Amino acid sequence: MNPWPAENAVADDLEPLVALESCCFSEPWGRESLAFPRHAALEESLVVRFPATREPIGFLRYRVAGDEAEVLRLAVHPGWRRRGVGTSLLAEGLRRIARGGGRRVFLETEASNAAARAFYRAFGFLEISRRRGYYRAGTEDAVVLSFHLQEGGTR
Ligand SMILES: CC(C)(COP(=O)(O)OP(=O)(O)OC[C@H]1O[C@@H](n2cnc3c(N)ncnc32)[C@H](O)[C@@H]1OP(=O)(O)O)[C@@H](O)C(=O)NCCC(=O)NCCS
Repeated sequence: MNPWPAENAVADDLEPLVALESCCFSEPWGRESLAFPRHAALEESLVVRFPATREPIGFLRYRVAGDEAEVLRLAVHPGWRRRGVGTSLLAEGLRRIARGGGRRVFLETEASNAAARAFYRAFGFLEISRRRGYYRAGTEDAVVLSFHLQEGGTR
């Protein structure tokens, strides 16, 4: 059994997710981005909770458009990494995307983010391009990754 089931985020998760963002990213999303996605109808947010307290320890947000989807955010609290939380979130997100007709998933991450690149590589994502100077006022490259979904399954 998956010890880290992913479920839909709810309104009460907002403050814990603000805190989670600030301990996971140097440029964290604020309340507005977390609470009011610009394309709410197309976006979905999942969390994994610490069972004893129900506090979110991991967060995924993705956007679907036709048969393509984009992972917008994935974060696991530093104290809970390397236990499968990120894998559970991404696997559930990809299952939902596939069920909704998505066939290809994209995301971008900082070229220097070795942990994220190793994580996505382990999952089966392929690095398809590099965007020079995409982050931090042109000082940091982005790597673009993609994953092909099969009908009815993710891996
Ligand atoms: C990337 C991130 C989401 C991974 O979450 P996680 O819960 O630690 O990932 P998992 O435990 O499911 O890891 C699955 C596999 O990915 C790989 N992996 C994950 N983190 C890794 C790291 N720091 N170094 C090398 N490989 C790593 C490993 O193969 C791992 O399997 P293993 O632990 O059995 O060796 C997490 O490190 C994080 O929140 N980072 C900060 C935010 C971020 O960079 N988000 C992604 C930007 S798009």
